[in-house]
Amino acid sequence: MTRTGHETRNAAPSRTRVVISIMRIFLLIVVTLGSYAVAQAQDLPPGKGLDVMNGACGVCHDTERVSSAAKTREDWVVTVNRMLSKSNAPQVSPADNTILVNYLTKYLGDDVNVNKASAAELESELVITTAEAAAIVDARKANGNLKAWADLEKVAGLDVKSLLPLKSRIKF
Ligand code: HEC
Repeated sequence: MTRTGHETRNAAPSRTRVVISIMRIFLLIVVTLGSYAVAQAQDLPPGKGLDVMNGACGVCHDTERVSSAAKTREDWVVTVNRMLSKSNAPQVSPADNTILVNYLTKYLGDDVNVNKASAAELESELVITTAEAAAIVDARKANGNLKAWADLEKVAGLDVKSLLPLKSRIKF
């Protein structure tokens, strides 16, 4: 089978175009997966303790393993102690340990029902001040159960913005 000169001239550029297209698709996949990985890493909200967590917990596994967990303070205390007592775990000062547990409890905690939780539980699980927890309980007593996020916004003395990253875990 003989090819005309015309066909031969076209064959090479079209092969090149196919190769370029494949490379483009490959590049797109790499970029997409890369940005997905970055998005995953950024899932952890910035907050006091994120740096400590990245330093202490990122030594052995990626933070995705941490961010996919949701635990109460009690369970985070157990997990952090278990992790940091593994051989070759980094040394963490007691102060940093507390910061770490606060961060994990606040941002990777379990669901909290703001109508059912006691003041002590609100303080512990939402990592808010004693006064803020008392303000929620007072609002509950004064106006009955909080029905939605908008009711939480009305609680005087509560820095509700600090709870925004936890919004999906706050139940009414
Ligand atoms: C010395 C290595 C090491 C360090 C440091 C470490 N981990 Fe782990 N982690 C592991 C290993 C190994 C596993 C899987 C086996 C297991 O669960 O013990 C794991 C599993 C986990 C799990 C899933 C299991 C569970 O109990 O929920 C969580 C969550 C976790 N780590 C959180 C953390 C946090 C938070 C820190 C930082 C305080 C941390 N890890 C630091 C080695 C480590």
